[in-house]
Amino acid sequence: MGGFLVRGGERIWGEIRVDAAKNAVLPILAAAILPNGQTLLRNCPHLSDVESMRGILHTLGCKTEWTDEGLVIYGDMLSKGEMPEHLSKRVRSSIFLLGPILARMRKAAMVYPGGCEIGLRPIDLHLSGLRRMGVSIREEGGVLYCDGSKMHAADVHLDYPSVGATENVMMSAVLLDGTTTITNAAREPEIEDLQRYINAMGGNVCGAGTDTVVVKGVKALHGGEYEPMPDRIVTGTYLCAAAITGGAVTLRNARAGDLRAVLDKLMEMGCALREEENLIALAAPCRLKAFHQVQTQPYPGFPTDMQSQMLALASVAKGSSVIIENVFENRFAMVGDLRRMGADIRVAGRAAFVQGKECLCGAQVQSHDLRAGAALVLAALKAEGETLVRDVHFIDRGYEKMEERLRMLGADIRRITAEENA
Ligand code: EPZ
Repeated sequence: MGGFLVRGGERIWGEIRVDAAKNAVLPILAAAILPNGQTLLRNCPHLSDVESMRGILHTLGCKTEWTDEGLVIYGDMLSKGEMPEHLSKRVRSSIFLLGPILARMRKAAMVYPGGCEIGLRPIDLHLSGLRRMGVSIREEGGVLYCDGSKMHAADVHLDYPSVGATENVMMSAVLLDGTTTITNAAREPEIEDLQRYINAMGGNVCGAGTDTVVVKGVKALHGGEYEPMPDRIVTGTYLCAAAITGGAVTLRNARAGDLRAVLDKLMEMGCALREEENLIALAAPCRLKAFHQVQTQPYPGFPTDMQSQMLALASVAKGSSVIIENVFENRFAMVGDLRRMGADIRVAGRAAFVQGKECLCGAQVQSHDLRAGAALVLAALKAEGETLVRDVHFIDRGYEKMEERLRMLGADIRRITAEENA
């Protein structure tokens, strides 16, 4: 697969605009099959995960098309409830379609979505929530057959504030008679964005962003247009690119309130931050100070999707840091690659102990998942010499044209093809 060739040492500086959030767009693409009409998603990013979701929507009978204004989804064309095996296994976010398909068709079938590099990614909380709503779910040969003919509004309590399970139950309840309440709901901003989309289409959801979401069923949703929230993880990643290189960036279409835990850590490391309406500017010191500790938690705690990026920053900061990954069971896969670049990191269970080094050395490294891949690019921007980051298709899942954006900000980076990378 293709790679990024990076020559380190250039400071990252300048201004870019942040795209809409992958983790808001993916559930909204699923919810877009609920309305009796089309949805125009403005400023939708061109990501491979979006293309994968489009592929599944097409097999369900829904047309989607890119226009100058964004992505149009013809959700009203839904005609099937069975998701194709090759797609639902490959695309983790296929699980988001279960609730909306049940809401529209009252039956659904899908293969267990695959786990991925960061963990097993079980879906027990999704299924127990749907069962609480009267959906009967039978598993045969790895395929889930769901019968929603008797599904009803219910009070659903989540044992863990799962983002996906909260969104799935929310979407499955939108067209049901009565009121569904989700307690111990996840509070991520992307869930609030999904609520905003559903309500913009005529739904009646409230409480998203808190631990209790209330869905009052409506007869139908209408089509319309919507611009999803900016991507807070992409925002954090580009702030870290300036931080690790001693640079300075201004990010437009960036919401500081969605990223408070990360901004606090960047300030602890010596970065100066300026926040305005939909803008964040960061100026970094020549060398970062180590943060004492980062513990990943459900929102508003420190986001697990920024953990790898902080590991890269800690690797070159002055002093020692501890990172504890509480959300996913296997999110230190990039430690081996950082060590190959000279980082001093020791992992014990869910904790990584980092002794910051003055500099790292360029090496050949592997992207294991989309955030680890992005973090290795950050390390490469700082490292002396040349780094080849392989398998950047992982990065393309969540970052649109990362190499072009970073080149615009002063980086010496180019994409190489699989043939060149051989
Ligand atoms: C969403 O995944 C995001 N993906 C992830 O972003 C993000 O890391 C995660 O939330 C946490 O913030 C999208 O929104 C598309 P969870 P999701 O359900 O919904 C366990 C990225 O890099 N769990 O909150 O799958 C699970 O194993 C991606 O953009 C169960 O045990 O996350 C994990 O340990 C990576 N049973 C924890 O909960 C379930 O039924 C959090 O998972 C569901 C989850």
